[in-house]
Amino acid sequence: MAITSIFNDAFVLTWDFILTIVDAVTPSHPAGHVVPAGHPGAGGEWPEYVSPGEGDSRCACPMLNAMANHGILPHDGKNISFKTMNETIRSTYNFSPSFCYFVPNYIARALDKDYFKDTFDLEQISVRNDKGIEHDASLTREDVRFQPDQGKPHIPFINELLATASGKDTSAEDPENALMLTSDDLARYSAKRRTDLENIGGKLDFIHKMFGSSNSATLLRIVGGHVSDLRPFLIDERIPDKWEPAIRSRVGLTMARFNLTVLPLEFSTRKHMKALAKAKKSG
Ligand code: HEM
Ligand SMILES: *[C@@H]1O[C@H](CO)[C@@H](O)[C@H](O)[C@H]1NC(C)=O
Ligand SMILES: *[C@@H]1O[C@H](CO)[C@@H](O)[C@H](O)[C@H]1NC(C)=O
Ligand SMILES: *[C@@H]1O[C@H](CO)[C@@H](O)[C@H](O)[C@H]1NC(C)=O
Repeated sequence: MAITSIFNDAFVLTWDFILTIVDAVTPSHPAGHVVPAGHPGAGGEWPEYVSPGEGDSRCACPMLNAMANHGILPHDGKNISFKTMNETIRSTYNFSPSFCYFVPNYIARALDKDYFKDTFDLEQISVRNDKGIEHDASLTREDVRFQPDQGKPHIPFINELLATASGKDTSAEDPENALMLTSDDLARYSAKRRTDLENIGGKLDFIHKMFGSSNSATLLRIVGGHVSDLRPFLIDERIPDKWEPAIRSRVGLTMARFNLTVLPLEFSTRKHMKALAKAKKSG
């Protein structure tokens, strides 16, 4: 098991690196054509949004829940194959094929399931163990000690985060759509959440800090950072009408390219945490 996963990961990273080069020399999709024809969301037409009902399975990931709310994944969030996940995150969010294989494969391992044969319910994605992704100090969820149902967004956190937005899209025609969340806004709010966690005796390990910054980075690179899009995505877990992934390249966002956003975000989160600790000390 351990040996095969090392080979698997080495293979995926090599594949990802090659895709990153291919992507750099391939022309991008024209605006409005990122989601492939024949897939939900093509031409900005997303299937109808239906909020989750009694008995529907939802997880700590707003973007997967959004797919279920639109019926791109089964609306009840149940009995989903890892391959379906691979294919739907590719067509919906334009992550590279390497990423779309790597992450479902990672979560299959955390669940001790077989990527090729088994299925899962969305709530299982919120598994909390050293191989899992779920962690404390999230931006959109209360810690599990305060909210055992990680399928529920915590609206006060989301409003607080979006209220920090300090960026401006100078090309936006409508001033309503100009406000943007920046990497520094995300780092500052994440530092606040991590500091609050430390103040109650909690701590994140290295891998969960990296997952935290990776998830935050999708709000910039995939969603595009506009507050007018982030609000429906995070609060209702709904894909806005006419929205398309902000990454228009043909291969989609590779892991290597993604790290160029994730790593600086993680570094500035640490910088903001030090500043918060210093401010506390000096009273
Ligand atoms: C198989 C694919 C995926 C899996 C297994 C997965 C898993 C997770 C998990 C377990 C969390 C909770 C982490 C926490 O405790 O904060 C999470 C949060 C999140 N994920 Fe995903 N995810 C997947 C795909 C995606 C995609 C494609 C996107 C973006 C387009 C995305 C964006 C996010 C965001 C923004 C959060 C919220 C982080 C927060 O509240 O701080 N995820 N994901
Ligand atoms: C789950 O999905 C598989 C196909 O992926 C199907 O064969 C099986 O009957 C389904 N199980 C339930 C309980 O719906
Ligand atoms: C992942 O999805 C792609 C389609 O985007 C498909 O061609 C590929 O076979 C899938 N890979 C696995 C391992 O499921
Ligand atoms: C970049 O990030 C991914 C996760 O998104 C990680 O697994 C990978 O090892 C990192 N490094 C490279 C060179 O891609």
